[in-house]
Amino acid sequence: MSSFPTRVGLIFGGASGEHAVSVRSAATIAGALRQGENAQRYAVSSFYIDPAGRWHGAELAEAVLAQGTPASEAQLQGAGRPGFSGFPSGAVDVEVWLPVLHGPNGEDGTIQGLFTLMQVPYVGSGVLGSAVGMDKLAMKAAFAAAGLPQVAYAAVEAHELEGNTEDVLDRLEQQLGFPCFVKPANLGSSVGISKARNRSELLEGLRQAAALDPRVVVEQGVDARELECAVRGGGLQPLAASVLGEICFDADWYDYDTKYSEGLSHTVIPAQVPSHVAEQARGMALAACRAVGAMGLARVDFFYGTGGEIWLNEINTFPGFTSQSMYPMLWAATGISLDTLVCELIEGAREWHLRPQLRGAAA
Ligand SMILES: Nc1ncnc2c1ncn2[C@@H]1O[C@H](COP(=O)(O)OP(=O)(O)O)[C@@H](O)[C@H]1O
Ligand SMILES: [Mg+2]
Repeated sequence: MSSFPTRVGLIFGGASGEHAVSVRSAATIAGALRQGENAQRYAVSSFYIDPAGRWHGAELAEAVLAQGTPASEAQLQGAGRPGFSGFPSGAVDVEVWLPVLHGPNGEDGTIQGLFTLMQVPYVGSGVLGSAVGMDKLAMKAAFAAAGLPQVAYAAVEAHELEGNTEDVLDRLEQQLGFPCFVKPANLGSSVGISKARNRSELLEGLRQAAALDPRVVVEQGVDARELECAVRGGGLQPLAASVLGEICFDADWYDYDTKYSEGLSHTVIPAQVPSHVAEQARGMALAACRAVGAMGLARVDFFYGTGGEIWLNEINTFPGFTSQSMYPMLWAATGISLDTLVCELIEGAREWHLRPQLRGAAA
């Protein structure tokens, strides 16, 4: 039973450090759903999750989409206590959810679990792919099991930093050396990540990361260019990889400020690398998606070492989707327009939800 146009629930914002990016991604996607042929195909209902986790319906959500920035204090006045307090009106009529949420509380399997329980199709990876893709330690374990090349790394648990820290510092120094990168397992957007050049910076970085997440990853630092590949498909469609892009920046590494300040970084599409490097990375991008069980869309990031090595860095199961983001730009360069891309994501989600096995099971 499906009506025409299809009711799409665009949900964005979220209790995450990437809230503001999500608002801009959603504005781009809303634009693509409300123009051209998509305007006839889809009726978009918008929902906004504010930074305190409260869900809001169309009135505030449309205002936030139009302004392109998170709701102001004034707009949130009288919103009630923090946390979920029920679905806004219109949510139960949604036929396909489009969760445009980046980082924790949205890209990590939480909202995917809710939609799975509700038995409503949704765009993107399911609970497993989202959760494994979000947690850097789980992700690395999945990549390692699939035999994919990664930089050397070690796991640290927050409790190891209580009391005497000499042992853990010795272990990391011996295993990885300097410089190394310290990362909370579950954040994204470079939040809580630091580069350590010596023991004292390592300890400081570990404490900073452990304050945000009990699971911490330390990686050997490599001197490398940063390449990215967009993937779409999965479910009943074959997975496909885009051309590669390169992120270039004027900074020691791609930290939060460099990522989100205008003019500090730029993208080169297609990346200027030998064709065999591009082919290898594209193959690895598909393998990375399979390794974590990602579906629908993903962006896979690589380090391209000065010695020609290609290491898998990470997978993002709901990558940035602003008009300036790598993901839609890579597809545009591969010949897939934004309107087509968004339409395919929705149709892929519906098709997967209606797959024969499910229909059979329900009959
Ligand atoms: N092992 C490493 N060697 C060199 N640079 C790194 C390493 N790990 C991270 N970086 C730098 O830090 C940035 C953010 O790290 P990343 O793991 O991609 O975190 P996030 O999930 O927050 O994007 C990378 O884009 C890169 O510039
Ligand atoms: Mg990254």
